[in-house]
Amino acid sequence: MSERTPYLAANWKMQKTVVETKDFLDRFMGGIGDLTGKDIAICPPFTSLAAAVERCRRSPVKVAAQNMHEADTGAYTGEISASMLTSLGVEAVVLGHSERRALFAESDEALSLKVVSALDAGLQPILCVGETDAEREEGSTEDVLRRQLEADLAQVEASRLGTIVIAYEPVWAIGTGETASPEQAEKAIGFARSVVAELDAAAAAQVRILYGGSVKPDNAEELLRSEEIDGALVGGASLDPADFTAICEAAP
Ligand code: PGA
Repeated sequence: MSERTPYLAANWKMQKTVVETKDFLDRFMGGIGDLTGKDIAICPPFTSLAAAVERCRRSPVKVAAQNMHEADTGAYTGEISASMLTSLGVEAVVLGHSERRALFAESDEALSLKVVSALDAGLQPILCVGETDAEREEGSTEDVLRRQLEADLAQVEASRLGTIVIAYEPVWAIGTGETASPEQAEKAIGFARSVVAELDAAAAAQVRILYGGSVKPDNAEELLRSEEIDGALVGGASLDPADFTAICEAAP
């Protein structure tokens, strides 16, 4: 682990009602030890954000949304803006998750606007990037990472780049139980950091780059002890308070 503060985020996807959210947080807060020196974020569905903010209010745990629209207001039925999230007390937002890119046609063009809109509103973007199985097989992992990062960060001023969190999530490792090896994750994350360095060297030293894709209590320590890997974006294993606690505790 580097000197950057480790960041552990729980991406619940379309799971947990308000009652289940409160129950998770009661158990998680009750069981977790000292969180000093770690950033922890819970990313529940929109409907559970208010309850999560309320429950996390006097704790170091922050609440993040899983998506937002790039515009502030307008005729966008079914969408939510950055200022609506901050007005609830939400502090961060996951952007560009591969499920949104693949299932909801989220484009890099929209993402480049969303990243700026989030920063303008005071939300910390957690920007997800990563290659598919086919892209890795054909040797284009670095091309994909470069294309996504350059496009999605294109509108961000250099002075704000370092505050963004990036999650390297190889699509083939998400929800499959097939985790990237620490070496694969380090190589991709090191490359992603070099792309940020081309935009701004100081930001590259500051930006947290997480690994995501089948992180579990039994592989978290091995991944998180790497100097390159600044934390984890956890899906399936974050639904269970004891498992997410174990992952948070595995971060040095
Ligand atoms: P997973 O999901 O941990 O279930 O693989 C990770 C993610 O989608 O962020």
